[in-house]
Amino acid sequence: MKSILCVFYSCTIALTSAAVKHSRTFPKDFIFGTSTAAYQIEGAWNADDKSENIWDYLTHTNPGAIDDRSTGDVACDSFNNYKRDVEMMRELGIDSYRFSVAWSRILPNGLADRVSEAGIAYYNNVIDEVLKYNIQPMITLYHWDLPQKLQDMGGFLNPLIVDWFADYARVVFDNFGDRVKTFITFNEAAQVCYEGYGSVTKAPLLNLTGIGEYICAKNLVLAHAKAYHIYNNEFRAKQGGQCGYTIAAGASLPLTDSDEDRHAVELFIQFQWALYTDPIFSKDGGFPKELTELAAKKSAAQGYPRSRLPDFTEEEKAYVRGTSDFFGVNHYSGALTSGSLYTNQYAVPSSMDDIEVGQVALDDWLQGASPWLKKMPNSLYHALRQINERYPDYPIIVTENGWSTREGIEDDERVDYYRDALEDVLDALDEGIDVRGYYAWSLMDNFEWLAGYTERFGLYEVDFEDPARTRTPRKSAFIYKQIMKTRMIDHDYEPESYVMTIDPGH
Ligand code: NOJ
Repeated sequence: MKSILCVFYSCTIALTSAAVKHSRTFPKDFIFGTSTAAYQIEGAWNADDKSENIWDYLTHTNPGAIDDRSTGDVACDSFNNYKRDVEMMRELGIDSYRFSVAWSRILPNGLADRVSEAGIAYYNNVIDEVLKYNIQPMITLYHWDLPQKLQDMGGFLNPLIVDWFADYARVVFDNFGDRVKTFITFNEAAQVCYEGYGSVTKAPLLNLTGIGEYICAKNLVLAHAKAYHIYNNEFRAKQGGQCGYTIAAGASLPLTDSDEDRHAVELFIQFQWALYTDPIFSKDGGFPKELTELAAKKSAAQGYPRSRLPDFTEEEKAYVRGTSDFFGVNHYSGALTSGSLYTNQYAVPSSMDDIEVGQVALDDWLQGASPWLKKMPNSLYHALRQINERYPDYPIIVTENGWSTREGIEDDERVDYYRDALEDVLDALDEGIDVRGYYAWSLMDNFEWLAGYTERFGLYEVDFEDPARTRTPRKSAFIYKQIMKTRMIDHDYEPESYVMTIDPGH
């Protein structure tokens, strides 16, 4: 089977890469940046009045869940090292920095009865420091670190999360929106809902398969919409910024050219990201049609009195539709997709069982340090094309993209990954796809969730043994810098030395 698949697959790639490979430049206003997230870098888990979030709670109460039994208690200590972080951004020469705000640092009770002055002061410092050097801050409101107090009340399974999140969002817009012009409500909804509630790969590890992820999906999407409306109605006129939403999309290509496999791709996309994006970006709104039907049919056969996937009312659909100013995508890789690859290893009920579709990565794709990360050729190009086909009217921002290695400064795999991914962006731009920006994940090594510090995504290496958490630029940092400076990808460029300096004007 694999040879047929490879024949079909290489055809797809050949078609897409034929048009390229001459020196092309990124548009003048194209934004280059780097991304991080609060729990992964900040540390200072209990500084001032900050309360525990679900990752603090998980790492403190269940250390065995993390590969190296580590925590984010100190992480990169960006709470204290933020000036060094901004110095690294200046060394690189980025236009914009995407970071997230820790809800439990701003609202120690989770609810908005009390706003932490210390929390607000910390983010004010970060924002003012980046702006001092003309780097535009982009804030993610929620990057997976729910205050534990809200988790104790059901977290994303409690419909009141819509109000809790909206109240938090208002505090963030109100305090930072005078200087921050791009907000993202949620980072990677599927990883919040499917991984956190419908499985065991992210906090709070609830494993409520086939039920938890669907309830979470509805509540999260409504929470996003409410925050967007607040931005729109209360802040946009005076602050003049934009508010969007980010999901993770891999590239799903059909295993063979059959109609069945093409349909399987559609189903997988519905499961992986359209469940969380169709309500916002599609013309009709609401959850994706086939997934809705499958979940309803299976639920009935399984004896549930109603579908495990709760639908929206017409009023809710209208409230959610159109509530994003751009489509944010985090992208890492992709896989080949087919119903024939489905194995019955999944729980019943589960959303994987609802779709009955499987995926495979080929053996000759380079393996990253993360078990889930294999380098599918041209995956970013395919993902951008799939998003653009589904929602042609929205500008796209690549809010994360990156490659994991182990420790070490010579990271040629990451260098190749970034160059190839950025060629994909140029391919997409050549085709008229409206890609506005690209943020490398990540500025520096950080706490990689259940993998702890065993997988490194940083342009800068961080020494986690060193109390000062020294950061050292990797080879990829010099390559990314050169790309941003010249706005071109020179595949032969080698840094003269590994000494980093700040170019004039940064
Ligand atoms: C996506 C997530 O947003 C980020 O937190 C994570 O570290 C990277 N993927 C790499 O897994």
